[in-house]
Amino acid sequence: MKHLIDPTDLTVEETRSIIDLALDIIANREKYSEKCKGKKLATLFYEPSTRTRLSFTAAMMELGGNVLGFADAASSSVSKGETVRDTVRVVENFADIIAMRHHIEGAQLAATEVSRVPIINAGDGSHAHPTQTLTDLLTITRELGRLDNLTIGFCGDLRFGRTVHSLIKAMSRQKGINIVLIAPPQLRLPDYIKQDVCDRLGLEYKEVDTLEEAMPELDVLYMTRVQKERFLDEDEYEAVKDAFVLDCEKMALAKEKMAVLHPLPRVNEILEEVDADPRAAYFRQVENGKFVRMALIASLLDWKDDPAHKMPEQEEVEVPGHLRCENKKCITRNEHSPRRAYVASDGALRCRYCDHKFK
Ligand code: CP
Repeated sequence: MKHLIDPTDLTVEETRSIIDLALDIIANREKYSEKCKGKKLATLFYEPSTRTRLSFTAAMMELGGNVLGFADAASSSVSKGETVRDTVRVVENFADIIAMRHHIEGAQLAATEVSRVPIINAGDGSHAHPTQTLTDLLTITRELGRLDNLTIGFCGDLRFGRTVHSLIKAMSRQKGINIVLIAPPQLRLPDYIKQDVCDRLGLEYKEVDTLEEAMPELDVLYMTRVQKERFLDEDEYEAVKDAFVLDCEKMALAKEKMAVLHPLPRVNEILEEVDADPRAAYFRQVENGKFVRMALIASLLDWKDDPAHKMPEQEEVEVPGHLRCENKKCITRNEHSPRRAYVASDGALRCRYCDHKFK
């Protein structure tokens, strides 16, 4: 069955078909108003959300379907200690498709191991956020008319920013992409993305110290919030929280045709004075999120029993008994799980659920 846990679970062709379907939905809203009549989406949100949960809800409603679920794990039996796998085995009896957000990395992959309905990863910890990536791809397509031959600057929290990790993975499959990384040393991109995505797939990237030096060459500037909730040490957060702020003075250095994206919420990394700039695409990006989730829900339900749409085959290796995943926020460290590993391009044994190393 087709689930969406990581952006690369979709082939390039499947990704393109979802973007094209979203564009058709935008042009022909009425045509899709009963597409999911009689179907139910469960939204299981173990972590706060405004855009993702509400856009999934609005998407299913606009497709003529229904929505059930929880927005706060404390109001569900999770608070009594129910595992992710058990929760999914229960909810699959009530819904045709499940969108889940979880603070534990790999929770949604664990859910796919038992689920009889498609699972959509609506964000797992600092790891991945593939439906934000689809939103970003649709936004870049609508703003700039293409997904190839772009220079994209990623600015802010590249270490914990799951939207950044997922978008870089997706862009690594496009032609002519150059990446500019703009982050303080404490918030640089994780090694597994640099080595296993950029280096292995030949994606050009460079690291710069200031937004000013990056601005003139960018087609897309992807701003991100420094995520206080991911830091274990408050002093470390205080030291970097104001590292990069986009204002009109910096926008004056950018190309006339470019787009500023941000997954939102923002704190202070984009001043409100930038909102009136026509290149500020982040609120248009929010609406694109609803259209692309409509396309995703419709596609996954259509593909459910179609053998042409399977999950990608991935090689896994046995993990020596004394090793465990180094990531305390990994599902394998929080719930009883099989240990699943792959050998990364640097030879390291990495966890299939969260991509951290085994030690
Ligand atoms: N972009 C995004 O994931 O926003 P929410 O956290 O509000 O869902």
